[in-house]
Amino acid sequence: MKSILEARFVRMFPGKLIWGFRASMTLFMLRSIFSNQYLPHICPFALYAASLEKPTFDCRVNSMANQDSSSPHYEFSEKYDPEHSRKYFHKHNTGFWRRLSNWREVGMARKALVMAGRPGSVLDLPCGTGRFWAMLAEAPERRIIIADNSQAMIDTGLELRPREVVARIEKYFCCSAFDTGLPDNFVECVFSIRLLHHIQNSEDRVLMLKEFARVSASTVIVSLWVDGNFRAWRHARNEARKARLRGTDRPRDRSLCPRVDIERDFASAGLEVIGHVDFIKYWDKWRAYVLRVKK
Ligand SMILES: C[S@@+](CC[C@H](N)C(=O)[O-])C[C@H]1O[C@@H](n2cnc3c(N)ncnc32)[C@H](O)[C@@H]1O
Repeated sequence: MKSILEARFVRMFPGKLIWGFRASMTLFMLRSIFSNQYLPHICPFALYAASLEKPTFDCRVNSMANQDSSSPHYEFSEKYDPEHSRKYFHKHNTGFWRRLSNWREVGMARKALVMAGRPGSVLDLPCGTGRFWAMLAEAPERRIIIADNSQAMIDTGLELRPREVVARIEKYFCCSAFDTGLPDNFVECVFSIRLLHHIQNSEDRVLMLKEFARVSASTVIVSLWVDGNFRAWRHARNEARKARLRGTDRPRDRSLCPRVDIERDFASAGLEVIGHVDFIKYWDKWRAYVLRVKK
């Protein structure tokens, strides 16, 4: 039954059609870029000029190591050493497609923050190398606190992001998202991009979401891969093919989460869905959820 459906889908979407759709999506995104007010954020010259300013601000004094060995452990968390951190920083700033996708992800996050009621204090966890700091700093009064499991990722961001952006960061913490050690209601919004799709186990997702709900006084924003779109369908098909060739016990460090499952996890963690923003509706698997903390 499944293969009949797949065959039908392939017949409906032959290669040329898919490329045609991709081309029109690109044109759509380009049109949005060149007609919106955020042009300076993606203009290569602006990026180059910003990168010339080296930060001198040092917030190391605020760092905190949380070494709780009872937190779930995922192998992918180990890979963010200084070399990988530099690669991660440059990866999102290199090449047309990466920049375009980075621009779209920043746009999604901006919209999600509006849906969350423009929070006055945000915990960016995991902050990585600070892809979202400039966008978070667009609100002049906003307090920005950052955290990540990898000190190398934090250090790379603090070193390479523009000085005026780094100067907006109030504190940073090196800690696990499963157990931050931060006080209850520490910020108005916990902002967590590209972490949940690494967490395959539902119990672990709920544990992490409960920690976000505890630390946030009001809202939580998370992004992950969901089903119900073309790329998720293609991803599942490729994964099934790989499993047939290499077996099913191969570890995955990223996975797709059915919407019903993640929405059940949200409810178990005491979070209520306010809304969501898709990367490209019906096409791409990235989705940012905006959640209200039920206190
Ligand atoms: C794919 S990066 C995303 C970073 C950033 N949000 C972005 O979108 O650019 C994943 C990040 O999660 C961090 N990380 C991995 N495991 C973590 C954990 N258990 N708690 C907190 N951060 C974790 C890594 O150090 C890395 O910086």
